[in-house]
Amino acid sequence: MKKWLLLAIGLVIASMLAACGSSEETSGDEGEEKKVIKMATSADYPPFEYKDTTKGDDIIGFDIDLVNALADELGYKVEIQDLDFNSLVPALQAKQVDMVLAGMTPTEERKKNVDFTDVYYTAKHMIVSKKGSGIKTVEDLEGKTVGVQLGSIQEGEAEKIAEKTKIKIENRNRIPDIVQEIKAGRFEAAIIEDTVAKGYFEKDKDLEGFTMETGNEEEAGSAIAFQKDSKYTKEFNEALNKMKENGELEKLVLKWFGQDQKSE
Ligand code: ARG
Repeated sequence: MKKWLLLAIGLVIASMLAACGSSEETSGDEGEEKKVIKMATSADYPPFEYKDTTKGDDIIGFDIDLVNALADELGYKVEIQDLDFNSLVPALQAKQVDMVLAGMTPTEERKKNVDFTDVYYTAKHMIVSKKGSGIKTVEDLEGKTVGVQLGSIQEGEAEKIAEKTKIKIENRNRIPDIVQEIKAGRFEAAIIEDTVAKGYFEKDKDLEGFTMETGNEEEAGSAIAFQKDSKYTKEFNEALNKMKENGELEKLVLKWFGQDQKSE
């Protein structure tokens, strides 16, 4: 047996295998295979994100349409998971998800841990109570139990009120639970973002509310959050600003909020 022959055959087989391997790597059509981007939200926040139980288990809403439009433009496929609001920033920090759309306000505190795009929708805080509660001003909250979503800026707002007016702050993970506590009489009021509160007023004639005037238009605005130093922030922000300019964002605002909003 000639050793050189065996060696030659071995080399031929090895090079064939190598060629095979490399051709496989490039065979996938880039345009077809979309990269998956993992998004988390807290689907308790109509019309931003919620489950329409009459139509199944899918999460729908303004933020969902927005992320899908942006992902389409940039060539990503979005995978959505539902978490409690309070777990969203930690999920980004732990790199369990790539992005968060949850009507989330880009506060200075959060900016220490995550990155944000520009604001895509602005909002205000509302004090919500049962009809006939007599709560018409922040001062009327004196001695009352006020509900807020755990980890939200409304929780911070309640703490600010508590510095001047004696209130008892209670938190819950999910907005519908807060509304339920008001209806059951366990909370006398809650602080909820105006657009979300208005949705509840339409469905529920037992509830009323008024807008808190804090003089800060941007205070409760929403932006998209990414991991700190994420490679995605820039491209998504650019695509977002393109949607602001070409009127696509306004179309989504009209669809979900039913009214126009001047984007800065
Ligand atoms: N804008 C408020 C915040 O950032 C509340 C957002 C709550 N979002 C939700 N999906 N429940 O703190």
